Amino acid sequence: MSTLNRRELLAAGTAAAILARTARADPPAVPVAVSSGNGLRAVAKACERVREGDRPVEAAVHGVSINEADPKDRSVGYGGMPNEDGVMELDACCMDGTLGLGGSVGGIRNIMHPSQVALKVMDRTDHVMLVGHGAYRFARAHGFPHQELLTEDARKRWLKWKENLSDKDDWVPERAKGGTISCLVRAPGGRMGGCTTTSGLAFKIPGRIGDSPILGAGLYVDDTAGAAGATGRGEAVILTSGSFLAVESMRRGMSATEAALESCKRIAARTKDARLLDDQGRPKFDVKIYCLRNDGDHGAASIWSGGSYAVQDAEGNRNAKAAYVFERP
Ligand code: GLY
Repeated sequence: MSTLNRRELLAAGTAAAILARTARADPPAVPVAVSSGNGLRAVAKACERVREGDRPVEAAVHGVSINEADPKDRSVGYGGMPNEDGVMELDACCMDGTLGLGGSVGGIRNIMHPSQVALKVMDRTDHVMLVGHGAYRFARAHGFPHQELLTEDARKRWLKWKENLSDKDDWVPERAKGGTISCLVRAPGGRMGGCTTTSGLAFKIPGRIGDSPILGAGLYVDDTAGAAGATGRGEAVILTSGSFLAVESMRRGMSATEAALESCKRIAARTKDARLLDDQGRPKFDVKIYCLRNDGDHGAASIWSGGSYAVQDAEGNRNAKAAYVFERP
């Protein structure tokens, strides 16, 4: 084990002092789970699984699996939006905040539960990330069934988008949307885990990987500080390590909401490409960051107003308002 030098000891002492000033005196004695706005069922399931003895990371995976299997959730798994060829390519990652281990799959096809495959990567290999056909073969080897993931509704939407690629007709093209679910879990006693899963940006270029399978971007968990997850424009989250930044902000003593807002502000400040900015220099896109501190404090923030997140704690199962950087016009 390395010995801390005097400067490191002082820095560690300062961080500990800040945390001591801000940490909740009464960390919750019940499981707490936080998710994106579409995650009310996920947080309920995750808390139930923790009570049944699951590790928080497993509980988070079980929670988001509900959305992955739901054809009505157009942002994740079965029923999500395909790439520009009409093929579903899914991304997911998970992380155990106690062991510091993670697993991830990117661009996996024909497997309904990329989150569960990510968990297998974490539990059954010494790798962190598998992509494309290798991820598919690994999933098949572990018994995951081959499935067609393009629903009739998603196929029709893709076809409409395809039909509107030409600028010589009268159609208004459907705006490319992204969607995702992230779920962060704290067990009584402080052990934490999380998972993020998505079908990615609708009609993306085949092979495009977003932030959801990238640890530090779409998810980061370290139960000496907290957990953070992201949804929205993945490229912006990757370029700022948005979830890692939020966890480190909590480590420096910020509340969960402040930490989420800090990452959103950083993304807004770091976006300089004119194609991505409105006439006032603000991002045209949105990102949401969800945070759960290791003492149970939770919150979320988005670049634009109107966001919400799902939470389950001692006060029940509900959606709560997210903080924001800019008021939507
Ligand atoms: N945040 C999901 C994605 O950009 O793929």
